[in-house]
Amino acid sequence: MRAFVLLLVLTFVLLGVEIWLSNFWHSDRSIARAQSDFKLGEKIYRENCAACHGEKGDGKGPEAQRLKTKPRDFTSGLYKFRSTPSGSLPLDDDIMKTISTGVRGTSMLAQLHLSLQERRAVIQYVKTFSPRFKMQKAANPIAFSPKPHESKELITLGETLYKDAGCVSCHGADGTGDGPSAEGFKDSWGFPIQPADLTLKPFKSGPEAEDLYRTLSTGLDGTPMPSYANVLAPRERWALVSYILSIATHERRRVMMGFVGEEVDGMHIDMRAAMAGMMDGGGRMMKDRMGK
Ligand code: HEC
Ligand code: HEC
Repeated sequence: MRAFVLLLVLTFVLLGVEIWLSNFWHSDRSIARAQSDFKLGEKIYRENCAACHGEKGDGKGPEAQRLKTKPRDFTSGLYKFRSTPSGSLPLDDDIMKTISTGVRGTSMLAQLHLSLQERRAVIQYVKTFSPRFKMQKAANPIAFSPKPHESKELITLGETLYKDAGCVSCHGADGTGDGPSAEGFKDSWGFPIQPADLTLKPFKSGPEAEDLYRTLSTGLDGTPMPSYANVLAPRERWALVSYILSIATHERRRVMMGFVGEEVDGMHIDMRAAMAGMMDGGGRMMKDRMGK
């Protein structure tokens, strides 16, 4: 009997030691994985983002000076393009959308030369620039009510709301962005900003009706563009979307190979960065070969 109890105790002790050891082993491995993701994110960021967004993520990269639409200062933790309510942090998926599709008309181009794994790693790295991501919990995305059927009435409702909800004061009666209070706006980072010309495609935040609905619902944090989630009912927001799409009849002038606005500058900067990366890689290959 005593031997049996002793065996039982011994088994439990050994089991405990085993669990403890395996925990140790696993947490060790996940720390190692997190470290290698961080290293990858840092490398991708230095090679593909820092020229504009700055080594420190403060938006002051060497190319930022000559760009009209300034690269985001990631240390502020303020994000324009989100699926979450006004004032909330973006989801990883929101940042993924921005870097996978770009911001049309600006130098922020789609970064599709990066693999999914590289994009995921650089998203985590970008988040380390702002303490908000450690302090605040992620918010839930806004609710998407289904889009009502397209109709003349819906567009007319949108047109009425466009005047009544105050869009005119910034975007102007004809939607070209020259409303009575459009002058002298600055964004949260201190740079001049104009209300969007809603008659011109492509839009910054995406081509789909859903993209416009999201913008109206979340607002563009850091800019004067407010959120209408608590002001307008879902049907009213959809009506505005239909109205905007009905007046967005002009295309931005293509500067080169389908690039519009500052996208051309983005292409030049991205190409220079890619060349520098190749030279750097080549240099390293040479050194390796020469055993240095
Ligand atoms: C050629 C310059 C340039 C490069 C290179 C560049 N960006 Fe940008 N980025 C911009 C500009 C300009 C904006 C601001 C667009 C706006 O405010 O309308 C921006 C905006 C963003 C945003 C949107 C933030 C928000 O407010 O929602 C994210 C995220 C972002 N960049 C991530 C990256 C990442 C990650 C890389 C590298 C893989 C990168 N960018 C490379 C110029 C650049
Ligand atoms: C106080 C001024 C102000 C008011 C009021 C305002 N906006 Fe804006 N809106 C802006 C600014 C500024 C921008 C540009 C932000 C940027 O470029 O980053 C903008 C951007 C937008 C965009 C994004 C376009 C794109 O390229 O993706 C849409 C859509 C829009 N506004 C629609 C509306 C509608 C509809 C209303 C009324 C319900 C409205 N806005 C009210 C200032 C305003």
